[in-house]
Order: sequence, then structure tokens, then C-alpha cells
Amino acid sequence: MSTRWRLFFSYLAVIVVLVVALSLAVRSLAIHAVTTHMTGMGRGGMRYLMTEEIQGAINAGVNQGVLWGALAGLVAAVIASYLVSGWITRPLAHMADAADKIAAGDFGQRVSHAGRDEIGRFAIAFNNMAGQLEQTETLRRELLGTISHEIRTPLATIEGYMQGLIDGVIPEEPETYELVRREAARLSRLVTDIERLSRLEAGAEPISPRQMDAAEAVEAAAASLKPQFANAALSLDIDCGDPCPKVWADPDKFTQILGNLLSNSLRYTPPGGTVKVTVRSEHAMVAFTVEDNGTGIPAADLPRIFERFYRVDKSRSSAGGGSGIGLAVAKALVEQMGGSISAESVPGEYTRVTFRLPRWN
Ligand SMILES: Nc1ncnc2c1ncn2[C@@H]1O[C@H](COP(=O)(O)OP(=O)(O)O)[C@@H](O)[C@H]1O
Ligand SMILES: [Mg+2]
Repeated sequence: MSTRWRLFFSYLAVIVVLVVALSLAVRSLAIHAVTTHMTGMGRGGMRYLMTEEIQGAINAGVNQGVLWGALAGLVAAVIASYLVSGWITRPLAHMADAADKIAAGDFGQRVSHAGRDEIGRFAIAFNNMAGQLEQTETLRRELLGTISHEIRTPLATIEGYMQGLIDGVIPEEPETYELVRREAARLSRLVTDIERLSRLEAGAEPISPRQMDAAEAVEAAAASLKPQFANAALSLDIDCGDPCPKVWADPDKFTQILGNLLSNSLRYTPPGGTVKVTVRSEHAMVAFTVEDNGTGIPAADLPRIFERFYRVDKSRSSAGGGSGIGLAVAKALVEQMGGSISAESVPGEYTRVTFRLPRWN
């Protein structure tokens, strides 16, 4: 049954109840009044006859009144149910149409909302949802585009080298094979990164945080990278403060976060530079800062470096280049453990990435 008919029948029910109650009340009130009046006149003999007659007249009057009243009510009910159902159903029908279009892929759909009533609020919620969907869809498209682009570059290089080898225009020497191997390695690293990130974002990688000594945690994470720092002629300083705070984190994830930040500093700091890890407690959090005096990040790129696949130097395709996922992974992990991450930088001077995790002492 449509809203219009429902409203009409509910009005009709109200009219019927009103008409019956009103006619009964009027009838009994009128009879009572007349009877009292007659009794007051003190002519008992005529009372019964008069009352009978008057009662008939009253009934007729009431019936007529009720009939007209009911008719007027009916007309009002038809008009009111038509108008009110229009007010209610028109915006709902709009939203249903918009939802259908969104489902069909037109994510730009929005509905207009005038009132502050429930329908107005519903329209606002609907538009918010549509906006979120549009954003997700845009992200998804961008991501697909980036992934295919990232995969295409090393694939094209491998293909080019192989074709060159087949045609005999590229010499068959160890360096050639090494170049091809490096591109293949880059591809497989990319796939691993994508896999890890998607697992992370889907919440498929459970975290098991526990109390950790921040100094030990930093040492453990830095240990595996120390040889690389030595090779790159970079000094690595760790300053934990005294006393060194305790932190609430998952040890493996912590190692991964700090490892990602340290390997960035390693990659973007020229030989002779310094990388410094500082640990400080800040109210309920522990702040871990990785600072280097390397290339730095331009202000325009800074807000985007935590995005998936975002790299400042987009053209970089040499084997040393990452896929631009390290910071996105770090951010997802930090946030999963109830923390936050941010970066500041002055190009040519320093880059400082700070992440905060809950303190535990
Ligand atoms: N310590 C740093 N110094 C200079 N640039 C950095 C540093 N850390 C990150 N970046 C910039 O942020 C981008 C994103 O970093 P990341 O997500 O780790 O990706 P990747 O290291 O794979 O390129 C890098 O491509 C780089 O341009
Ligand atoms: Mg990185």
C-alpha cells in the first residue's frame, strides 16, 4: 500500500472515531439538556411525549450535522493525505533514484535537502554517504592506475632487455643479467608491498601489543640495519633519554615501522650524513623521532608522503628506489596501535619523521 493510501486510511479512522464519539456525545448532551429543561417546567404529564418528539428532532439534527461533518472531514482527509504524502514521498523518491544511479556507477549524485526535519537529516546523511563512496571510488581508480603503472615500468625494462638479447643488440654479459634480475626483484618487492598493505588495511594482520622497553625496541630495530649504515658511511645515533620510557606496542610491527623510517633516511641521505633516533615521553605517549640531514622533502610533497605509492621523485626507476609504500605501511601500523605519525622537513637540511605510541609506565 502506498504512503498516500496509508495516510488516507489513518485519517479516515480518525474521522470515523471522531464522528461516532461526537454524535453520541451531542445526542446524550442535547437529550439531557432538554429533559432537565422540561422537568424544570413542572409539567410532568407532557414530558414523555415532548421528549419523544424532541428526541426525534435532535437525532435528525445530529445525523445531518454528522453527515456534513463526515463529508467535510473526508474531503480534508483526501487533500491532507495527498499533500502530506507528497512532502514525505517526494524526497524519498529522489533519494531512491539517486541511490539507483550511484549503484549504476554515477557517484556524483546528490539530493537537495531543505528542512531540518528527519527527512532533511536523512538527505544530509545520504549525501555524506554518497561523498564517501565517491572518494573511495576515486581512490580505488587511482590505486589501480598507479599499480599498473608501477608494474608496467619494470616489465617494459625486462622485455626490452630480453628483446635486445634476442636481437643481439645488447651484449650477453653479467651486467645485463644483473639489470634484468634487479628489475624482477623490484617487481617482486612491489607485489610483496601491495600484498602487505592490503592485508594491513583489511585488518587481516592482527597486532599483539605488549609492554616494551623503548631503548631495547629501538636497538633491536636498528641492529639489522647497522651494516648498511656503515656501508653508506652514515652515522646512526640513538638517544633514549633517562629514564627511557616503556611503550605499549607489537614488537614485530615496531621493528617494521622504525625499519621503514631508517631505511628511508639511509636511502635519502648522502654519505657522511647523520641519522638520529630520539625517544621522548610525552604525557600518555612515547614519541620516536628519526631525523636525518639528507635531501629533505619539498613542502608541496610533504603532506602526501604517507599516501600509498607516493614518491617525491616519480621518475626514479633505479634499483635503489622503493615503491612509495614504506610510509603508508608505517602509518597504518602506527594507527593500528593507537598512535600517530607526522613529518617535517626543510629540503637540503633535514627530514624529521615522528611517530607516537601509547606509553606504558
Ligand atoms: N628521510 C627522507 N628523506 C627524504 N625524502 C624522504 C624521506 N623519507 C621519505 N621520503 C620521501 O617520501 C617518499 C615516500 O616514502 P616511502 O613511503 O618510504 O616510499 P619509498 O621509500 O619506497 O620511496 C619517498 O619516495 C621520498 O621521496
Ligand atoms: Mg621507504
